[in-house]
Amino acid sequence: LDNGLARTPPMGWMQWQRFRCNLNCKDDPDNCISERLFMQIADAMASNGYRDAGYQYVSIDDCWMLPERGPDGRLQPDPARFPSGIKALADYIHSKGLRLGIYADMGLHTCKLYPGSKFYLQTDAETFASWGVDMLKLDCCWAGGLEDLETGYQVMEFFLNQSTRVTNRPILYACSWPACSGSQTKYKLVAQHCNMWRNFVDIRDDWSYVYNTIDFYGNNTYGFREVAGPGNWNDPDELSIGNFGLSEDQERAHFGMWCMMASPMFMSNDVRHIRKSSQQLLLNKNLIAINQDPLGIQAYRLSKSSNGMETWIKPMSGSRYAIAALLSNDYGSPVWFTSTLADLGLNATAGYRITEAFENQFMGKYLPSDTLRLLVNPTGIQIVVAETIQQ
Ligand code: DGJ
Repeated sequence: LDNGLARTPPMGWMQWQRFRCNLNCKDDPDNCISERLFMQIADAMASNGYRDAGYQYVSIDDCWMLPERGPDGRLQPDPARFPSGIKALADYIHSKGLRLGIYADMGLHTCKLYPGSKFYLQTDAETFASWGVDMLKLDCCWAGGLEDLETGYQVMEFFLNQSTRVTNRPILYACSWPACSGSQTKYKLVAQHCNMWRNFVDIRDDWSYVYNTIDFYGNNTYGFREVAGPGNWNDPDELSIGNFGLSEDQERAHFGMWCMMASPMFMSNDVRHIRKSSQQLLLNKNLIAINQDPLGIQAYRLSKSSNGMETWIKPMSGSRYAIAALLSNDYGSPVWFTSTLADLGLNATAGYRITEAFENQFMGKYLPSDTLRLLVNPTGIQIVVAETIQQ
């Protein structure tokens, strides 16, 4: 979608994977879905380096609403959990140098059965714009068939555009459309109307979910890789880094692959309390630079071998290539990745300067006939950047 936003993959924080639909503010005031949670997350993002590393959006997900629309037909935040209202929350988030995202659903109800936006698209677009919201995640539960989806998402884009022309605050449009239209998705149409879009199942804090998502992207069955680029991104879902279910290597592989795939980078974790190693990973400048490369090319999977070793390549600006060696399964011991550069498709006669990406360690100059050797841990990753030496 060409609305000036998301020229590189958008980054931020999103409620769902970690905080779900926790309504229990009485017993669990720190973790329930309330303005307090979003304010505290924003504080932590501003003071612990996330904002300055590029994480901009703080995004509310399902379960912020009252079960009924107001007398004026508008969606209403639950006043017990959002006593100041969304406008005040947006002002607070903006005062921290961050942007606020909100959630609605294209269908009759949200997935958690709060009021849906079907028949109210214009009202809701106007409401969000009047609250000063910066992003809308529009889900697709209860949306109906393919035609309803295609029409609904396009119509909402029209109303968002119309309402934000008045307020002068464009709204990043995050769709779930392909996640609901599956094999019937017209990806070019989606890319024209959305800034980002979910196309696979919800991520969970579990390696099998992380890897299945990566594998879906590697297969690229519906040709969605080709439509990614500035303004429009495939969204493999939130980053579950700093939670409970992934090992250090799995977190590295998860983060590294999201960077390779030019994915939107929305953490879903508790940045108020997080392991040092996870925080350092999320703030890794060299990796973020791969994700944020201005060309916005999504990596492709060059090979997948029977021992679980995969090779991924992301062409980057400045005649550079990020190369990832991902070991998808866990046979217990590290495995050597070996390949000549020529076998990776890198044939420049003067060769390449290769740098390990996580630690930014220069590894040397390699000719196309030279062999790149990287030791990869089980369910782990190695990433290098190869810069073409000009003749
Ligand atoms: C399904 C979406 O895919 C999730 O990311 C989340 O938004 C839930 N719905 C909320 O109900």
